[in-house]
Amino acid sequence: MTNSRIQFFDTTLRDGEQSPGCSMTIEEKLRMAHALEGLGVDVLESGFAIASPGDFEAVRAVSREVRGPRIASLARARREDIEAAARALEPAARSRIHIFLAASDIHLEFKLKISRAEALEQAAEAVRLARQYVDDVEFSPEDATRADPDFLCRMVATAIDAGATVINLPDTVGYCVPEEYAAIFRMLRERVPQAEHVALSSHCHNDLGLAVANSLAAIAAGARQVECTINGIGERAGNAALEEVAAAILVRKERFPVTHSLILERLYPTSQLLAELISFGPAPNKAVVGSNAFAHEAGIHQHGVMENPLTYEIMTPASVGVPHNRLVLGKHSGRRALAHRLQELGYVLDAAELEHAYRHFNEVADRKKAIYDQDLIALVAEWRRAASKSAEGRLISAS
Ligand code: KIV
Ligand code: ZN
Repeated sequence: MTNSRIQFFDTTLRDGEQSPGCSMTIEEKLRMAHALEGLGVDVLESGFAIASPGDFEAVRAVSREVRGPRIASLARARREDIEAAARALEPAARSRIHIFLAASDIHLEFKLKISRAEALEQAAEAVRLARQYVDDVEFSPEDATRADPDFLCRMVATAIDAGATVINLPDTVGYCVPEEYAAIFRMLRERVPQAEHVALSSHCHNDLGLAVANSLAAIAAGARQVECTINGIGERAGNAALEEVAAAILVRKERFPVTHSLILERLYPTSQLLAELISFGPAPNKAVVGSNAFAHEAGIHQHGVMENPLTYEIMTPASVGVPHNRLVLGKHSGRRALAHRLQELGYVLDAAELEHAYRHFNEVADRKKAIYDQDLIALVAEWRRAASKSAEGRLISAS
């Protein structure tokens, strides 16, 4: 693997958002989309335009406002889906229609009730139609990892011949182990000559806790796009966590000699923002962004880290944006310390907001000995919710 460029495709706002407890309003999606732009993702899948009017509007709003990454919308291999995606993506500077169609027999037979031949026809027609609207079309043979290998190769070749520019191989049900997933990429590169002219992409679910390992195996086997979500949110056990894939590439450069455009110091603030917007944050022991990811409790570890952080830390907290100067906030802390920590967490407050936050902070500090980042995030989220409710109340009573 020579020094190739990896594209990060973020699907927090689509595969992530469609899972329980993760729904976001359009305003929240826009905040997240701007954060992902600041993080430097290459492709931002902003929704599934046909799924609902809210999804359509979200794709359109992100397409209008976010100029850095290419904006993608998901679509089934159906005319109405592709047309809705194309309409929603119209304002984007650069856009992509992402078409998916079942490839495994179990999905074809029980979900779509169509034959393999019909699936090939639908794939070709859908990709051709999408290419009339955009020059960048991604095709995903859904459940690729449980599909018959010969049929998978035919489906991929058909999609490329019809004009697909990216081929994504979803491990839809999180079934694969790393060697198997890598072997599928190698097989396609060997057996489908057209694959040389498109980017191959990984898309892994975490049902066996292997989504990140599988994504890394795919990169080693030639994938040049990796699909991920922040904090690994997504259907069932989630998707490959973007921050973990990025950290693995950072720490194990010799195994993954690839370049990318992410600004790694934005990983933690982006993770924290998502935690504020949806109903849960990363588990404390979550790699890279969990509150314990850089915490050392055991005396031997503390001693080692004080002598040389490399004894128990394989990357510096600062390298992934975790505030390393962990000054503990409590009831004796002032506004300046609060503002400083909030800024490190990605919140820039004006003077009035800071005053409100400080008042709430003092109430919590009276009850608790030490205030941790999670308390601060909850505090700001609670206060912002209360502020927007009282603004709504004022609007209603004025009307
Ligand atoms: O997991 C999956 O198969 C998907 C496709 C729609 C790409 O999310
Ligand atoms: Zn998925």
